[in-house]
Amino acid sequence: MRWQSSKASGLIIRGGTVVLESEIIQADVVIDGGHVAALTAPGHAPSDGELALEASGALVLPGAVDIHTHVGLSFGEFTTRDDFASATRAAALGGTTTILEFAIPSEDETPMQAVEHRMESASGVSSIDYGFHACVARSAKESLPDIERAAKIGVPSVKVFTAYRGIVMLEPDEIQAVMEAAARLGSIVLVHAETETIVEKATADLAATSSLHSRNHPRARPPEAELDAARSVLSLAEATGCTVYLVHVTLPEVADEISRARERGVAAFGESCPHYLLLDESCYATEDPELYVCSPPLRPAGAVRELWARLGRELTGVNSDHCCFDASQKAVHADDLTRIPPGLPGIQTRLPVMLSEALEGRMSLTDLVGLCAARAARLFGIAGKGSLLPGYDADVLIVDPAGKTEVRNGLDMDSGYSPFDGRTLRGRVDTVISKGRVLVADGLWADAPARGSFLTRARRAGSQT
Ligand code: URP
Ligand code: ZN
Ligand code: ZN
Repeated sequence: MRWQSSKASGLIIRGGTVVLESEIIQADVVIDGGHVAALTAPGHAPSDGELALEASGALVLPGAVDIHTHVGLSFGEFTTRDDFASATRAAALGGTTTILEFAIPSEDETPMQAVEHRMESASGVSSIDYGFHACVARSAKESLPDIERAAKIGVPSVKVFTAYRGIVMLEPDEIQAVMEAAARLGSIVLVHAETETIVEKATADLAATSSLHSRNHPRARPPEAELDAARSVLSLAEATGCTVYLVHVTLPEVADEISRARERGVAAFGESCPHYLLLDESCYATEDPELYVCSPPLRPAGAVRELWARLGRELTGVNSDHCCFDASQKAVHADDLTRIPPGLPGIQTRLPVMLSEALEGRMSLTDLVGLCAARAARLFGIAGKGSLLPGYDADVLIVDPAGKTEVRNGLDMDSGYSPFDGRTLRGRVDTVISKGRVLVADGLWADAPARGSFLTRARRAGSQT
């Protein structure tokens, strides 16, 4: 890749292969004022850009959008090692230029206070644009006005959990109340779907018959828990008319439930995560099973294979569910899976891992753009993101398809490890541009000041993604 100076303002990316959601074209990308000004035939871009980037042989993609991150998340005695400065830097180094973060209220916060608090934490330190999902974690009925307040300031989405009793779990009647409010407001309801009573029984049986060591983690959170909760929340969505989005789907059967709900007219969507698509429960037989503890757990290899067939259909996104606990935090209670902070780091590896799969031929590059950027931007009302068509924000990745990415020590994530450590990925994210500003050049952090902005999002009007 070669940078050239020329005279006037703006930036031109010349000679690359531009990947859109619906097609791949040879085009020059003309950037002006932080937006894509034009896509021109190769060689037809004006030659007066301040910077011209020669990208022949490279792929030019929209910046990736990750709508499922947990930055600075606390669980029990542990808090993830990252903050918005380090997490958004790692995200950018991995090609992600927009995140939506969950504002999970602490015990003494209302949902709206949690959103405001997270906005303060992110402001001035984030290198990429960000938005939030509100979360109702307790006192659901008193929290309903906060769903509306959040929607009014550009946070038209709300997360609920059917799991984690005593921490964030809601009962079905409370979820129904949240869904009714969301349906009225045009907010989308995201659900962590695992039925807690099934998890509790499986965990008690495991404690009685075997042990709660992390090597047994999948047995404590069996597939029935995810399937049962998914059926229940899809029925509630049907009854209330809300748009529902199942986070971190691990099972093809859950995707099939989404499909059946759609046939009944429910606006139902789901996502999966790279670890559920590329790792399986054999990770719990390794030396450090606690490093793979997440909810839901990694599943058998057969389920992982089948999940791929649902990508792009019932599952409209692949997001990270990034949780930056480090290995020492994971290890403290390695012999008690109920006390290990759940979740895996992934804000930096999500796009490179999925890009590698695309370059291996497991999905098309246009599907990659759909799953990792465009569809999430549309579904969650993130204007200006997920495409390189004229008028969109100039959030751009330049990728060397012939390059390689060695995943080691969690790359730049504060976890110090990644579940993908040791892998050599196909492709390399060389350049990352956010609103026309270069954040990453030649694969390295370009030391640009943190200029990420809070994204106000639009409420939903229809049921398309
Ligand atoms: O294990 C996970 N997924 N931890 C993060 C919180 C959540 O459930 O999304
Ligand atoms: Zn979850
Ligand atoms: Zn999560």
